[in-house]
Amino acid sequence: MARDLGLELPAYFVPLLEPQASSRKPQAVGHRATLRAMRQELLSKQSSAIRGMFGRIAHRYDLLNRVLSLGRDVSWRKTVAQRVAAARPERVLDVCTGTGDLALAMHGTTVIGADFCLPMLREAQSKSSAGKRSLPLCAADALRLPIADASVDIVTVAFGVRNFTDLGVGLAELARVLRPGGEVLVLEFSRPCGPMAPVLGWWMRNVPPRVGRLVSGDPEAYTYLPASVSTFAEGREMGRALETAGFSDVAIMGLTGGVASLYQGRRS
Ligand SMILES: C[S@@+](CC[C@H](N)C(=O)[O-])C[C@H]1O[C@@H](n2cnc3c(N)ncnc32)[C@H](O)[C@@H]1O
Repeated sequence: MARDLGLELPAYFVPLLEPQASSRKPQAVGHRATLRAMRQELLSKQSSAIRGMFGRIAHRYDLLNRVLSLGRDVSWRKTVAQRVAAARPERVLDVCTGTGDLALAMHGTTVIGADFCLPMLREAQSKSSAGKRSLPLCAADALRLPIADASVDIVTVAFGVRNFTDLGVGLAELARVLRPGGEVLVLEFSRPCGPMAPVLGWWMRNVPPRVGRLVSGDPEAYTYLPASVSTFAEGREMGRALETAGFSDVAIMGLTGGVASLYQGRRS
C-alpha cells in the first residue's frame, strides 16, 4: 500500500497496518513514534508524495471531512469566513484551497483559490459551477506562489500548513503576497485539550484511518491525518512561527475542544 504512494515500504509502516498489535502501553508509545516517522517520511519525499495522496482522495474528500469531523468542519470554516467578512477585504487568496470549501464559504469579496493538486482543483471547479459561484482557481505551490508581492488583503489556509515541506518558507510566502496590514487566517488541526481530550484524541487517532480506508480506499491518506497532527506545531509554537514569518498581533482561538485552532495575524 505504501508502494502506491511511490514510497518504499518503511519498517515503521507495519504496525500501522496491523491494528491487532498487542499490549496497550507499548502500542501507544510506538504509535506516536510511528506517526512522527510517517510524517517525516512523507515530507522528506517532498511535495509530490503529498500531492499524489490528496489526488487519490479528492473524490471522497468532502464526504470524509463531514463524517470524520461530525460536521464540525463546516462551522470551523464558517468562523473563518465571518472573520474575513468583518475585515471587508477586496482580494482574498485561499491557499491550499482543496475542493474549495473555505473559498466558497466566503461571500462579498473576490476569492482566488490556489492548490497544487489538480484533482482537488477539479472538485472545486465542479462545485463552483454547480453553485453558480465564480471561483478563480490557480494551480500553485504555496511555497512559491505566482502572485505579486503585497497584492492581496487577506490570505486564508484551512488544513493546509501542516503539509508544507517547510513551514517557515510557506508562512513567509504568505506574508510576501499580503499587503502591509493585511491579515492571515490559518485554520489547522491541533491536539485536543480539556476534559474531552482523551475521547477526542482517541477519535483522531483511531477513526480517520479506519473510516478513511473504507470510504476512500486509501488507508495511508487518513493515517497521515493523525500523523501530521500529532507532530505538527500548534498553539504558541505556531504563533511564534507566524511571528518569525513577519506577522504581528497573532491571536489563537481553539475550536471544538482544541481539535482545531484558528490563528490570525497581521502582516507587519
Ligand atoms: C487537507 S486539504 C484542505 C483543503 C481545504 N482547504 C479544506 O478546508 O478542506 C489540504 C490541501 O492542501 C493542498 N496542499 C498541500 N500542500 C500544498 C502546497 N505546498 N501547495 C499548494 N497546495 C498544497 C493539498 O493539495 C490539499 O488540497
